Amino acid sequence: PRSVWLSRHGESLYNLYGRIGGDAELSPRGVQYAKKLPELVRQSVGGDRPLTVWTSTLKRTISTAKYLPETYNQLQWKALDELDAGVCDGMTYQEIKDVYPEDFQARDEDKYNYRYRGGESYRDVVIRLEPIIMELERSEDILIVTHQAILRCIYAYFMKKDQSRSPWMNVPLHCLIKLTPRAYGTEEERYQADI
Ligand code: G3H
Repeated sequence: PRSVWLSRHGESLYNLYGRIGGDAELSPRGVQYAKKLPELVRQSVGGDRPLTVWTSTLKRTISTAKYLPETYNQLQWKALDELDAGVCDGMTYQEIKDVYPEDFQARDEDKYNYRYRGGESYRDVVIRLEPIIMELERSEDILIVTHQAILRCIYAYFMKKDQSRSPWMNVPLHCLIKLTPRAYGTEEERYQADI
């Protein structure tokens, strides 16, 4: 059976400051994760066969994939970029609450459908991921290094959860997830980095 490997980027400077979106570099802890990722992957693959790595076009995912073996082909997809928070890009949740209180509440009430002003909703992300999912279904041994909202949607798809539940999928930092589709459902293994 084919597996797919999923990882968020390592902690970024924006994660540290509680800011969303942006194109920040990794924090020192994020770099530690990037350096541990090759070992986590080796453990989870159980052998030496190379994976193909898909990242987004943002620095924090490319830097997270930087220490993987050179034998791993790497591909950047714009469609894997983080959910676009529009005018709220770069803000903290507290700032959004202060500046756009109605939006903050609207998102709270319907997180799946809420679309940031000038940006995207989770529903929009599910639609833009369709070509990625199709390509994934035709490929083998893919490791996807991307962003929380994006991985929640991909994870929900493989775990056969209703897409509208995507915003609540648990995809923590510094954790490699291996999903293997089986006849009875999708098998999941998680490898948490101790950093
Ligand atoms: O903006 C995207 C974040 O990665 C997801 O966080 O729980 O606000 O959707 P969220």
